[in-house]
Amino acid sequence: MEKKDIYILGIESSCDDTSAAVLKNNVIQSNVTASQDVHKAYGGVVPELASRAHQQNVVPVVDQALKRAGIAKEQLSAVAFTRGPGLMGSLLVGVNFAKGFARSLNIPMIEVNHLQGHVMAHFIKESEDDSHMPPFPFICLLVSGGNSQIVKVNAYNDMEVLGQTIDDAAGEAIDKCSKVMGLGYPGGPVIDRLARQGNPLAYKFAEPNVAGFDYSFSGLKTSFLYNMRKWVQDDPDFIEHHKEDIAASLEHAIVDILMKKLRMAVKQTGIRHVAVAGGVSANNGLRNAFRDHAGRYGWTIYIPKFSYTTDNAAMIACVGTFKYRDGDFTQMDIPVFSKVTFE
Ligand code: KG4
Repeated sequence: MEKKDIYILGIESSCDDTSAAVLKNNVIQSNVTASQDVHKAYGGVVPELASRAHQQNVVPVVDQALKRAGIAKEQLSAVAFTRGPGLMGSLLVGVNFAKGFARSLNIPMIEVNHLQGHVMAHFIKESEDDSHMPPFPFICLLVSGGNSQIVKVNAYNDMEVLGQTIDDAAGEAIDKCSKVMGLGYPGGPVIDRLARQGNPLAYKFAEPNVAGFDYSFSGLKTSFLYNMRKWVQDDPDFIEHHKEDIAASLEHAIVDILMKKLRMAVKQTGIRHVAVAGGVSANNGLRNAFRDHAGRYGWTIYIPKFSYTTDNAAMIACVGTFKYRDGDFTQMDIPVFSKVTFE
């Protein structure tokens, strides 16, 4: 008998991006994301405003995703949605939409852990014959605005956290430092752009001293703030005159911290298939460090396409496809969760 194609609609609404995507047997058909500019004025995500914007965006975004995929909603096999972790109000919009949509079509629902989604973004296929994906087990550096973790990925549904931040996440530190520099929110892309023109060794900031594979970024953030205050006191235009060097030095410090623990984890586990995922994996300094490590230490590296680094629904639909094949469906009464967990 011919195997039936699996069409999964993914819905992601954990923070400030409303995203919907369609995958056919894990091959991307569409991935539509509405970002929320409303938060820029506040220097960070305002949860209440995020939920309201999701309410406005979710229907048009899903509509666009289906149109771009060129399929009718009746062709969908299941609806996969981000259950958590994330902002409660934001998650509730996506989850409740998914429940109503799946019920109206009488198709299964699949809950997906947002972090698992980021890691599994490497399995989204660009075409039928796309085969560049890590073999299990592999090591994944998961770096975003909310998380900095080293994960041993044994299977799509079996992930072990080897180390994680004990305070701020890498993306959070970048965003806070860029706010101190007056660069707006989110700071990551601006820091990345400025860093390309600066000297990474111009300034030094505090280095963390944390045991094992865990990370810490709060000391670096505080030392960045105190240094800036001191330098601006001496020269009010200091930041404006040196923003490229400051950005390059900050990026260098953060990439250094991330790669040091990752090297230790690779060495200890002996697993040399190494992936990077999450919003900060868009960073060019980090991507270059990965390429450098591939050459220097014989790692086989997996770097996601830019569109699959920050929050997107394609990664949710991708996990959805794996779960669909296993018949791992969700009941209507499933609640959302806000806490960071891989369970
Ligand atoms: O994965 P993501 O979209 O959201 C979370 O789940 O947290 O990650 C957002 C984070 C923000 O901190 C943002 O500043 C950072 O990713 N980011 C970057 C870059 N693009 C986004 N950080 C450094 N360089 C970039 N190019």
